Amino acid sequence: MSTLTGIFLDTGNLQEVRRYHALGIIRGVTTNPTILVNNAGLVAPLPVSVEATTNEPDEMREQARRVSGWAQNINVKIPIHGPEGGTDNLRLIHELETQEDIRVNVTAMMSAQQCLLAAMAGATYVSLFGGRVNNMGYNACGEIRRLRGLLDAFGNSAKIIVGSTREALNIIEWFEAGADIVTAVPSLLDTMLVHPYSKETVRMFLADGETLQRGTLQPRPVVRASTAHLT
Ligand code: E4P
Repeated sequence: MSTLTGIFLDTGNLQEVRRYHALGIIRGVTTNPTILVNNAGLVAPLPVSVEATTNEPDEMREQARRVSGWAQNINVKIPIHGPEGGTDNLRLIHELETQEDIRVNVTAMMSAQQCLLAAMAGATYVSLFGGRVNNMGYNACGEIRRLRGLLDAFGNSAKIIVGSTREALNIIEWFEAGADIVTAVPSLLDTMLVHPYSKETVRMFLADGETLQRGTLQPRPVVRASTAHLT
């Protein structure tokens, strides 16, 4: 059975990490290769995934060692395979997890079957790119559900991260499908948070508050329905 972990922020921008961390709504960060090491310190002990910037196995191993040494909360993002396919990356992932105690986030995966193999190899996190799956005409929710069922059946503790968010709905629907973590671009968190009808309601409360202070408030028989949010 999965224990939900929550929303990660998918950004390399320090300002954005600071802003959303201060709201208390993120549970980790995934970054692109332009990450600054400061990001890791900013959200510690929440996990931060830092991506390898090479596909040469020895260099990748060196980067993984170096980057994971920066701070306790750093995980290394390694693609499931290189641009030509092959098994080198999966072998490295297995060795880093089982021999070097380095936590790996296996990235750039498009299917439940890739994620299952990464989980079997010992990955701490398996990242499905839900938006890209949908872009290609497949159903990300279907892949997530299938993966959830398999990992639970095997008793495998890899955490399912679903990234590549395209719309606010992705966050809730991917959690509902079985993701442990959805890593979201910051703008979508604003979309989740702010609703036009909430704004209108708060404006009404404030206006009524002012009227009340002036002592001229009339009883309001029914709550007004709004159409403002539809325009
Ligand atoms: C997350 O780890 C990925 O880097 C990210 O979600 C990919 O998103 P994209 O498909 O928008 O590039």
